[in-house]
Amino acid sequence: MNLLKALALLVGIYQVFNYLFYAWLPRNYIFDKEVLHSLSVDAISRHPDGNVTALLEDLAVSLKNEYGSLINDLNFEDWVYNNAGGAMGSMFILHASISEYVIFFGTAVGTEGHTGAHFADDYFTILAGEQHAAFASSLEPEIYKPGDQHHLPKGYIKQYGMPGESWALELAQGWIPAMLPFGFLDTCSSTLDFVTFGKTVYLTARDMIRNLIAGKF
Ligand SMILES: *[C@@H]1O[C@H](CO)[C@@H](O)[C@H](O)[C@H]1NC(C)=O
Repeated sequence: MNLLKALALLVGIYQVFNYLFYAWLPRNYIFDKEVLHSLSVDAISRHPDGNVTALLEDLAVSLKNEYGSLINDLNFEDWVYNNAGGAMGSMFILHASISEYVIFFGTAVGTEGHTGAHFADDYFTILAGEQHAAFASSLEPEIYKPGDQHHLPKGYIKQYGMPGESWALELAQGWIPAMLPFGFLDTCSSTLDFVTFGKTVYLTARDMIRNLIAGKF
């Protein structure tokens, strides 16, 4: 009986968050997937030599010009590994708040894994290299190349892979705190890399709190 009540409570909480996801959360969105896409395409076109470092530095400046203090300055001390869903990559947090994050994500080495099922829409714009993705029922991969934007809607799951030297600008819009366990549990169950874990928690919390104080939910 108590188990049933607990279950009913969980379903109720889920329904409230799901309702807010559509009815209220979008009012807090400041980033625009189209703007991120066009800034990415412009930056790609300015770096035909394929220098990814220069491309990311350049795009970070364009993002800063567009979104001001919501965007963190790119530096090479605050990159962290991200282990999630069996995949491993590197990320730099450009923005983290309760309803949105913007990061550079990619891998110099190559990786493959599960996207995770998220309470958020995800827009993954390829800057260099490529991303492959497939639903369980897909016998052929979707292939995304520089300038393509891969939209993974809330709740959808795919397998994905990125060969070495693939980099992307990722925007997630939804309940970001609900995504964090996916980003952290591989540490507890597999890597035990608590240095990366601590740094990621610190960088994420610092940005979320700073944005919250500035009135950005
Ligand atoms: C790539 O760009 C970075 C930063 O602009 C620069 O320091 C580096 O020398 C460049 N690499 C090559 C191979 O040109």
